[in-house]
Amino acid sequence: EKGGFEHFMLKEIFEQPKSIKDCFRGRLIANNGQLVLGGIREYANALTNAERIVIVACGTSWHAGLVAEYIFEEFCRIPVEVEYASEFRYRNPIIREGDIVIAISQSGETADTLAAMELAKSKGAIVLGVCNVVGSSISRVSHEGVYTHAGPEIGVASTKAFTAQLTVLTMIALRVAHRKGTMAEQRYRSFLAELESIPAKVEKALKTDDQVKKIAALFKDSRNCLYLGRGYNFPVALEGALKLKEISYIHAEGYPAAEMKHGPIALIDEEMPVVVIATRDSSYDKIVSNIQEVKARKGKVIAIVSEGDSLIPGMVDHTIEVPGTHDALMPMVATIPLQLLSYHIAVMRNCNVDQPRNLAKSVTVE
Ligand code: F6R
Repeated sequence: EKGGFEHFMLKEIFEQPKSIKDCFRGRLIANNGQLVLGGIREYANALTNAERIVIVACGTSWHAGLVAEYIFEEFCRIPVEVEYASEFRYRNPIIREGDIVIAISQSGETADTLAAMELAKSKGAIVLGVCNVVGSSISRVSHEGVYTHAGPEIGVASTKAFTAQLTVLTMIALRVAHRKGTMAEQRYRSFLAELESIPAKVEKALKTDDQVKKIAALFKDSRNCLYLGRGYNFPVALEGALKLKEISYIHAEGYPAAEMKHGPIALIDEEMPVVVIATRDSSYDKIVSNIQEVKARKGKVIAIVSEGDSLIPGMVDHTIEVPGTHDALMPMVATIPLQLLSYHIAVMRNCNVDQPRNLAKSVTVE
């Protein structure tokens, strides 16, 4: 059942080219500009005209929500707030009649997310679900929703569900931007084509596996690890850190790279591995300076860079190359080596990768 892989997590990591394709199958046909989301028909207008969107989720799904915030704001010019479901539900949040609330959940059973949705509904919000498990509680409570169709995710650490969530949220944002006219036809078309090319790019990113494993061997005994990113890659840093914490029990923190000088830079010394997501995008020059700041303090830098980068490899200790894509789609590609890194480190530390201590696949208690 693990399809020849040693763990479900590794199988699920390697399934991503297929799970992303399954996610847009029948929905996205780039060469004729087609994007059909049957799951949001009735509320498509409400979404297009929304004055604001609130996203509620937990854990990895919350990280997908953060990427979606940047995407919706850039593509659709709709203000987005991303909330931990557990915080939202207990603080009498301001929700107006007709506000759009999007709940993101792999399992569809997360108690806090479910309660946040019910609260939003009781205040008159339109609640849309982005769920992996068909027929789950969250999918039943939503007014409408889009399934991620990533297939069953068995490993407790979420991997393919995350990239499928990003795929669905990107499709929703593109659909809204197109209807709203906030994205020109040509740009819209080029995004559809680029989205269609993501499975092949993920496939290529998976080829870093052997190299990532060698890097894992060097850092497996670290006690701490810092993950830095900017813009669309900031949530990728948070997600990379969460993956390392939950399955290898190494303390890790994700930070927006520019925040480093406001505190975490004090942690950096020769012992501190710093994973920097430094792909070529609009914040490239800024992240290069952040790398210099870390190197000046003798931190060990592992950089995720775009193919062909000739600058960063000369500055850092290790580089992992991934194929380039549009900034907004980079999280789907850049997250792959980070999933592999946490996986290999956990295996080398003899951790129970698929069932880490203290964690459950569905968190049905608050
Ligand atoms: C991380 C992880 C958890 C879940 C969180 C939300 O790898 O598995 O952080 O992402 O418990 O779960 P869902 O998406 O099922 O609501």
